[in-house]
Amino acid sequence: MNYFMKFNKNTDIKAPSSITNLSSRGVNDEVISLDLFIKGDCRTSPPTGGFVRNDYNILRITTFAFLLLIQLMIFIGCNEPADPPVHPDDWPIPGSEYSHVAKIAESGILGCKTCHSDDETKEYDGGSSGVSCYECHEGGPSGHPNIVAWTSPDSSDYHGRIFWENGWDFSDCRKCHGNDFAGGVVGFSCNNCHMSGIGSSTTCHGDPETNLAYPPKDILNHTDSTLISIGAHQAHMESELTNVSCGECHNVPGNYLDEGHLGADNIAEVEFGVIATDSSALSPTWTRSLATCENVYCHGAFSFSYEDSLITGNYTSAVWTAPGSVPCGTCHGLPPNGHEGAWTPEQCFYCHGTVIDENGNIIDKTKHINGQINLN
Ligand code: HEC
Ligand code: HEC
Ligand code: HEC
Ligand code: HEC
Ligand code: HEC
Ligand code: HEC
Ligand code: HEC
Repeated sequence: MNYFMKFNKNTDIKAPSSITNLSSRGVNDEVISLDLFIKGDCRTSPPTGGFVRNDYNILRITTFAFLLLIQLMIFIGCNEPADPPVHPDDWPIPGSEYSHVAKIAESGILGCKTCHSDDETKEYDGGSSGVSCYECHEGGPSGHPNIVAWTSPDSSDYHGRIFWENGWDFSDCRKCHGNDFAGGVVGFSCNNCHMSGIGSSTTCHGDPETNLAYPPKDILNHTDSTLISIGAHQAHMESELTNVSCGECHNVPGNYLDEGHLGADNIAEVEFGVIATDSSALSPTWTRSLATCENVYCHGAFSFSYEDSLITGNYTSAVWTAPGSVPCGTCHGLPPNGHEGAWTPEQCFYCHGTVIDENGNIIDKTKHINGQINLN
């Protein structure tokens, strides 16, 4: 919970006893004599004195009380005045039943403006209540930390950190920002900044600007390819030799909320796909402690029978964190074992011309490492 908070002052605010009495802030309890708009507990005892009784004051107070009453009626539908204070005792206490947070999550924030805001240009900075939301919240009425820190990945107050630490649980944000994150009771949409939506495949990993979903960046915003979370993603996805899809190594969710996708361990499980397993003929393994893949079709775990011989790949073990360690000729010989004759890469095209040209360059990467024999 404390991620949300960045206090300008009253740093001891979490201790309930320190915040129940606001009269020291100059707030006149007697004028603000109408009761709680949160408990819906409309008591009947009239406000008690403290005013000089003259006609002008009585008229003034009556008018003020009347206006305030109307505002309150609009706000909660209460229709009877009652005792001070305006808010419940546990109003500023984190997690309490009648906290202002619970109230905002229930019915939004606009009603708070009535008494906490009077200036169009700087909202929620006091108003008739004299209590500015900025007194306790650097970020103002959102209750969040200062907006720059809140949205800066390097800051300890970055809102993304909450998800890193809570196992990607969005339920708290949803209470106020809506189940679809589009505004909810507070009328403030996450999509103002996350234009493709929170469920987009680039919100948490990859890069929203380039629209690439794979790490780097990883989900904790690292970019070092010697880390397992990053490794050879780029080498695979941007390969000149072949097209690789995420589904060859991961079970790709249809929706980010699908079972098994968001996990508290922050690890994306490796599950091999159709080509990597040669349509389930192979059982490749990922050894996380060594960052290696064994028995993967793509890296040469293949044998094709041809007439009397077998054409076999090199059954290499690929090291995920050493991108670039798999040059031409690593996964299979040039040509592979079992070929008749010795051919150079510039000659493969005699027979494999739909895949490779006379310079030994792969010309159709949809046909290379596609699980198929590609002969002319
Ligand atoms: C006296 C200090 C204090 C003042 C003044 C104050 N708050 Fe808060 N506010 C808190 C505390 C403490 C919490 C943390 C409560 C919790 O986590 O349950 C909080 C939390 C919040 C949250 C929830 C933030 C989140 O990320 O979950 C919102 C929204 C909020 N306050 C709105 C307001 C508004 C609007 C005002 C002004 C009308 C205001 N607050 C004034 C103390 C204050
Ligand atoms: C009818 C006027 C009125 C409305 C509406 C109102 N407030 Fe207040 N609020 C006050 C007054 C007056 C105080 C000063 C303390 C007191 O007298 O209880 C105050 C104090 C506070 C405090 C400080 C409490 C403390 O113990 O330090 C917070 C937090 C707060 N309001 C939040 C809100 C939020 C959030 C909303 C909207 C959900 C809201 N208020 C709506 C009048 C109002
Ligand atoms: C004011 C703009 C803004 C709003 C509003 C906003 N975000 Fe963000 N969010 C950002 C920025 C900036 C980043 C960091 C992007 C980056 O990595 O550079 C981010 C990152 C994230 C991340 C990725 C965390 C990570 O680093 O792995 C998640 C998840 C997220 N936001 C969720 C939310 C949710 C949920 C809401 C609404 C409740 C929301 N955001 C509202 C600006 C915003
Ligand atoms: C108790 C209600 C409440 C909860 C819970 C809440 N927010 Fe907010 N949030 C608000 C309000 C209110 C605003 C808009 C304030 C305004 O009008 O400027 C806001 C605004 C924001 C903004 C815009 C920047 C800012 O500070 O104004 C971001 C980003 C954001 N919320 C992210 C989140 C994330 C992420 C979560 C969940 C971890 C979350 N919020 C949970 C009430 C809440
Ligand atoms: C060639 C295999 C391969 C492909 C293709 C692949 N990944 Fe991965 N991915 C991995 C491995 C290996 C890990 C590390 C798993 C571990 O930590 O045990 C990983 C980890 C991840 C992680 C977790 C990163 C972190 O922060 O911990 C994400 C997210 C991810 N991959 C997304 C993708 C996406 C999106 C694609 C497609 C655009 C993709 N991957 C394609 C092998 C692959
Ligand atoms: C990552 C491992 C890997 C690397 C590196 C690799 N290949 Fe392959 N190659 C394969 C696999 C697996 C096949 C098996 C056939 C298939 O699925 O396309 C293959 C098949 C071929 C074929 C036969 C045509 C076909 O696709 O059926 C040719 C020709 C070929 N590779 C040439 C090359 C050349 C030239 C290079 C270097 C520029 C290269 N390969 C690098 C894995 C690799
Ligand atoms: C004279 C023709 C010929 C030349 C030249 C040739 N191959 Fe082949 N290659 C074949 C035949 C025939 C097969 C077996 C197809 C089958 O199993 O039915 C084959 C199979 C393969 C396979 C396994 C299955 C497949 O199609 O992917 C690979 C890998 C391969 N060749 C790579 C190469 C490479 C690399 C070169 C160049 C260094 C090369 N070949 C040159 C004829 C040739």
